[in-house]
Amino acid sequence: MAVDLLLGLQWGDEGKGKIVDVLTSNYDIIARFQGGPNAGHTLVFNGKKHVLHTIPSGIFHEDTINLVGNGVVIDPVIFKGELDKLAEQNVDYKKSLVISRKAHIILPTHRLLDAASEASKGKAKIGSTLKGIGPTYMDKTGRNGIRVGDLELSDWQERYRSLADKHESMIEFYDAKIEYNLEELEAEFFKAVEVLKTLTFIDSEEYVYQAQKSGKTILAEGAQGSLLDIDFGTYPFVTSSNTTAAGSCTGLGVAPNQIGEVFGIFKAYTTRVGSGPFPTELFDEDGETMSRVGNEFGATTGRARRCGWLDLVALKYACQVNGVTQLMMMKGDVLSGFKTLKVCTAYKYKGDVIKHFPYNIDPENIEPIYTEVEGWAEDLTEMSDASQMPKALNDYIEFLEKELEIPITIVSVGPDRKQTIFRDK
Ligand code: IMP
Repeated sequence: MAVDLLLGLQWGDEGKGKIVDVLTSNYDIIARFQGGPNAGHTLVFNGKKHVLHTIPSGIFHEDTINLVGNGVVIDPVIFKGELDKLAEQNVDYKKSLVISRKAHIILPTHRLLDAASEASKGKAKIGSTLKGIGPTYMDKTGRNGIRVGDLELSDWQERYRSLADKHESMIEFYDAKIEYNLEELEAEFFKAVEVLKTLTFIDSEEYVYQAQKSGKTILAEGAQGSLLDIDFGTYPFVTSSNTTAAGSCTGLGVAPNQIGEVFGIFKAYTTRVGSGPFPTELFDEDGETMSRVGNEFGATTGRARRCGWLDLVALKYACQVNGVTQLMMMKGDVLSGFKTLKVCTAYKYKGDVIKHFPYNIDPENIEPIYTEVEGWAEDLTEMSDASQMPKALNDYIEFLEKELEIPITIVSVGPDRKQTIFRDK
């Protein structure tokens, strides 16, 4: 069976967790392939909210295997925190969670390095979640990292020590005045590593290959969004992994010809957290309304998200890079009450009108060109069937489908599993 992908198409926080949860009953395995605890995937069901950071969003379904792939970076301390919360919910995670031996470990000093690097950048800071993601991927590509499989070796603590010592001298080099107590951080870390070691470690590429061969269905769950991709995002204001479709091949060991459906998730408007260019950003009442009604605060850091109109130039680019086959529009309910909606359909770029996403989208180069469409007044949050959707919402969706040339098959109208409208292809 081919592996299906589910990816965020904007700057993250599109609502991937909810849709994975909705789709999980169609799959035997849900697999994360990149990122780490910088992600915050929110699921709401039975009146309760659950936030996952590293653990795949299929974990609440009893019969689903949840796989943390080789492309993911794991902070044992945060991971343990997630496990503790699952235990409180009586989730039998030991049965349903497997971890790639090739996934890399985030050390306490990676987090400190992240903080030191950001502090030293001053105004040019990335706005990182400070979870140690960048430094851990740097050690991975620098061939210094410690992997999950290493924890099974007798000398792993010596390797840990020499890497942590090196990190400490690097922290000093930044001269960023980071206060920390490494002994305390290490005590917590080593305790969490012991918990991690009670889980099942696997050679995940072989596991995925055999699962595919035996007809198991697999959904690869992306984290962050395409515009945060290390290659195709708004560099340097990006994360440190490939968040796009190709990342699932390297992050799970799936061959490119084994990819099936590519589900692209986007919000009916746009948000971004952290620094970096955002052509359709709003600084007015409309932006404030989106922020308030959409409760636009980060699930991991609690930071306020910047809000703006939907950017079809950027969305088209993300669809192209990922080969999206089906779109899912999130938070349609947040736009209820806007008389007119604006959609960016082109950029004025250094005097020319362009329809593609260029190398540099800094504000001095880009001016968004908008098409205005009629809004809707109706509350969508109680709707569960496409026939209930107001005409203006249907028109908005059809306009987007025409521009993007891809069907929108799910419209989400609230955070709960039940607030999901399926549309025919
Ligand atoms: P890092 O991946 O924590 O280093 O953060 C790099 C950039 O990506 C920052 O602008 C973060 O705010 C952003 N970012 C990282 N993870 C997420 C996410 O899951 N959702 C939204 N933004 C994210």
